[in-house]
Amino acid sequence: MKTPTPAFPRTRMRRVRKTDWSRRLVAENTLTPSDLIWPVFVHEGENLAVEIPSMPGVKRLSVDLLVIAAKEAFNLGIPVIALFPAVEQHLKSDDGREAHNPDNIICKAIRALKDAVPEMGVLCDVALDPFTLHGQDGLVENGYVVNDPSVEALIRQTLNQVEAGCDIIAPSDMMDGRIGAIRDALEIEGHINTSIMSYAAKYASGFYGPFRDAVGSTGNLGTSDKRTYQMNAANSDEAIREVALDINEGADMVMVKPGMPYLDICRRVKDTFAIPTFAYQVSGEYAMLSAAAQNGWLERDKVVMESLLGFKRAGCDGILTYFAVDAALHLQG
Ligand code: PBG
Repeated sequence: MKTPTPAFPRTRMRRVRKTDWSRRLVAENTLTPSDLIWPVFVHEGENLAVEIPSMPGVKRLSVDLLVIAAKEAFNLGIPVIALFPAVEQHLKSDDGREAHNPDNIICKAIRALKDAVPEMGVLCDVALDPFTLHGQDGLVENGYVVNDPSVEALIRQTLNQVEAGCDIIAPSDMMDGRIGAIRDALEIEGHINTSIMSYAAKYASGFYGPFRDAVGSTGNLGTSDKRTYQMNAANSDEAIREVALDINEGADMVMVKPGMPYLDICRRVKDTFAIPTFAYQVSGEYAMLSAAAQNGWLERDKVVMESLLGFKRAGCDGILTYFAVDAALHLQG
C-alpha cells in the first residue's frame, strides 16, 4: 500500500481564525466593563460642563453633572470612578492647603457620589499639584520638592478624602515612603478597610500634558518638570524596586503610568508580584487616539478597544481610561 504524501502544511493556524465562533472560542483575553476605572475632572459650579480642548470629547463637570454621569457609568458596569479636581486659582497656594479643606471640591464630589451611587467605588488621587501655585505634587523648598514634609501633607490630604467617603486612595506623587506612612495613618485612624492603589511606577512623561490643561496646572508648572521624583523612561528594573517597596509598605493594588508606551512594565510587574495590577492610559494617549480619529485617520472604536485589550494581554487586571464610558457602551453592543 502506498503511504499518502503528507499534506503541507500540517498545522494551519488559520483554521481557528476562519469563523466568528471559533475566534471567540480560542480568545485568550477579554475586556469587560468591570475592568475599567473612569477618570473624571470636577470643578465648582452648577450644571456646568466645560470642554477640554486637548481632550476632545472629555468635559470637566460640576458636581451635579458628575453624579448623573457616574450613575450612567455605573449602570454600564463600570465599577470605579476616579476624581481629579480643577481648583479655582484663588484657592491655590504654595503649600496647597486647600487639599486639607473638608469642603473642597473633591470632598464635595465624594459625598455627593456616595449619597447618589453608594455601590460605586470612588478613587481619589493623592498629590498636591491641583492645589499648589507651583504645580508640583509636593512642597517646594529652594526649588526642590522636599520629601518628608510632602509626605506629611499627603497624609493630611488622604485622611481628608477618606473622611469624606473615598474608598480607594491613589497616591500619584512618587515621594519615598509615602505608602507606608499613609497606611500607618489609615490604621491609626481606624480606616482599616480603605484600599491603596499606588501609582507605583509613574514615569516623568510628556503624555500628561492634556491632564495638566484639564486641572489647570500647566501654567503653574511653567518650565519646571517632575523629574526629581517621577521615573526616567529609560528604566525598568527601577520600576520593579518601586513596586516592591509599595507592596511592602501596604499597597493593595499597584499602577503603571502612562500605559501604552509602558506595557513591558505592566507585564514584568504582574509576572513578578502577582498583585492586582492596573495601567493608566493617560490624557496624552487619549488625545493621540482621539485626534487621529477626529481627522478620520483611525477608526475610533477599533483602536480604543484594541488598545484596551493590549493592557489585558500585558497582564493588567484593569485600566484607568478616559475611554471607559465609550468602551462600556461598545461592549454593550
Ligand atoms: C498628579 C497627576 C497627574 C496625572 C494623574 N495625577 C499629572 C502629573 O503627574 O503631572 C496624569 C493623568 C493623565 O495625564 O491623564 N500628580
